[in-house]
Amino acid sequence: MSNDPLLQPYKLKHLTLRNRIMITSHEPAYPEDGMPKGRYRAYHVERAKAGVALTMTAGSASVARDSPPVFNNILAWKDEVVGWMKQMVDECHDHGAAVMIQLTHLGRRTRWDKGDWLPVVSPSHEREPSHRAFPKKMEDWDIARIIEDYADAAERMKAAGVDGVELEAYGHLIDQFWSPLTNTLDAPYGGDLDNRLRFGFDVLRAIRARVGDDFILGLRYTGDEMVEGGFTKAEGMELSHRLKNSGLVDYLNVIRGHIETDAALTDVIPVQGMKNAPHLDFAGEIRAATGFPTFHAAKIPDVATARHAIASGKLDMVGMTRAHMADPHIVRKIIEKREDDIRPCVGANYCLDRIYQGGLAFCLHNPATGREETMPHLIPAAAAKRRITIVGAGPAGVEAARVAAERGHEVTVFEAADQPGGQIRLTAQDERRREMTSIIAWRMAQCEKKGVKFHFNTFADADAVLATDPDEVIIATGGLPHVEVLKAGNDLVHSAWDILSGDVKPGSNVLIFDDAGDHAALQAADLISATGAAVEIVTPDRSFSPEVMAMNLVPYMRNLQKRNTTFTVTWRLMSVAREGNQLRAVLGSDYGDVTRERLVDQVIVNQGTRPLDDLYFDLKPQSRNLGEVDYEALSTGGAQGILRNPGGRFRVFRIGDAVAARNTHAAIYDALRLVKDL
Ligand SMILES: Cc1cc2nc3c(=O)[nH]c(=O)nc-3n(C[C@H](O)[C@H](O)[C@H](O)COP(=O)(O)O)c2cc1C
Ligand code: SF4
Repeated sequence: MSNDPLLQPYKLKHLTLRNRIMITSHEPAYPEDGMPKGRYRAYHVERAKAGVALTMTAGSASVARDSPPVFNNILAWKDEVVGWMKQMVDECHDHGAAVMIQLTHLGRRTRWDKGDWLPVVSPSHEREPSHRAFPKKMEDWDIARIIEDYADAAERMKAAGVDGVELEAYGHLIDQFWSPLTNTLDAPYGGDLDNRLRFGFDVLRAIRARVGDDFILGLRYTGDEMVEGGFTKAEGMELSHRLKNSGLVDYLNVIRGHIETDAALTDVIPVQGMKNAPHLDFAGEIRAATGFPTFHAAKIPDVATARHAIASGKLDMVGMTRAHMADPHIVRKIIEKREDDIRPCVGANYCLDRIYQGGLAFCLHNPATGREETMPHLIPAAAAKRRITIVGAGPAGVEAARVAAERGHEVTVFEAADQPGGQIRLTAQDERRREMTSIIAWRMAQCEKKGVKFHFNTFADADAVLATDPDEVIIATGGLPHVEVLKAGNDLVHSAWDILSGDVKPGSNVLIFDDAGDHAALQAADLISATGAAVEIVTPDRSFSPEVMAMNLVPYMRNLQKRNTTFTVTWRLMSVAREGNQLRAVLGSDYGDVTRERLVDQVIVNQGTRPLDDLYFDLKPQSRNLGEVDYEALSTGGAQGILRNPGGRFRVFRIGDAVAARNTHAAIYDALRLVKDL
């Protein structure tokens, strides 16, 4: 038996967990009709198979109609949930993982225009900035009703065979009662600490009465809101003792902070560039003070930190949640002593940000996550070895190389630059986004193990490609910034890439015209404003940076708002002209015939990229498929079979930005879904 602290079993009441690694609750927004169907089940089963000890399904499964889903949550108030949950639980159990589910009433953290259009409820009228609903202040019958709803939902889950349930109490209804900032009720549910805690304990008592003792019940709660006038650390510590002494719960799952704004949420669930494990010591303090089973997750992305969390006695179970989205096979790789093979979570938070925009949680650089029904995490070997030549070593190219090599093919990669990475190299120029380099570094390490041949500093033409005598050619040459967008003065502007690469020095009074709305403009603004320059970001959209989602925006704003930076929405850059040693920029509007002018010394344009596709078009006429892609097969996980030119010696495919400007996830997904069947 291993003596790795992470691999030691843990006894939680009657339940034996096979190791110390858990996935904390997180709603990936995979439900169909509010139910955890195929996609949901496959996602958890993959992780159960790979050895995680406990998977906490759902995240905020809703216990009541007036807690409508804001990110496609599971509807635990419907009886039909039992059958769907049971299928998922049974299958995970078959693979040795324990399964729990998190239940909640969102209180004010939702919207009235979802679900049944019922009023949003909370113990005060204070609205939550993120979801914007002005709540109804709860009445006695709301309180009684919702306590019963919790107990009913827990009973349904017990019927589905889950090992236990966890209640969510950070930013949701239970802790909206705790915090003086969100509870203006009178006694018995408002006022002093006893009264503010009453609702939560009433819920726990009602659930325990319903499910009995042989069922795990836990609480995931903020032990310190860290906000003026809020629920304090002293109150959190007192609550922790009361929870233990109540005999109602079996473990504490500790959170620190508050989540009602994007910025606050980002401090609870840190993104790339922020400190690892920022709340681990706090969770450890609660464990030390209570001597009670303690779980915790918050940016513990690597095995070494997780091991430390357990070995140092700060935690009983360590959550590696996004880490498991990036690589479901963490535990198996630890057991097999292959920690180097773990695909690292780079904290990009593409996963979490997407659910707040109504999307499904996808991992920026593991496109099989959430698509387990069609995309493999483990690449199967090909029936026959082929020669595959790839041009471009950006994210699409290196993923194609990795997958092709895993299939057992002979793989050659040409790259014009002296290093791999493509656009990620630019992104990672920023210290705060340095973690992005792991997307490339992990793939390069995997490619090296499988003997992929890389030719750097090589601008491959058709002859160079044909000289490799390929069976398949993959063009992953990416794109170049497009700045030819003005009626006049295109020669006077630079691209955001020029700034990020350091090819162009920042000016002192800079206008950034951002028509792409992605990271590049903000990253350029960050870099330029850091020099003390004045920066105005102008966009024709009705909000700035529409492609940079909520939590990703936070670190930018924390920098930009401290500096001389302004945002101007709904204006479009029309032209630029030289005026002395300055530039006169004319802005127009999509809304009417109006103009404004700016006098600046530098204009930056961010308008996405245009494909670098010459090589593709050179090769296309000689190829067997004439470049054509079977979209049906690509979308459903099938193999490509188009044959348009039987005399051709090879097939050619284009992926990533070499087709059209998209993002890293799209580029890597293009590569995986194409190459997994080549
Ligand atoms: C897509 C996604 C959805 C989440 N939803 C919930 C949720 O509903 N309830 C909850 O308590 N935590 C939720 N979380 C937070 C995670 O449980 C975890 O605390 C967080 O990701 C930090 O841990 P990590 O760094 O190991 O990922 C979510 C996280 C992600 C990535
Ligand atoms: S999207 Fe980013 S934060 Fe989320 S799991 Fe993937 S690498 Fe980690």
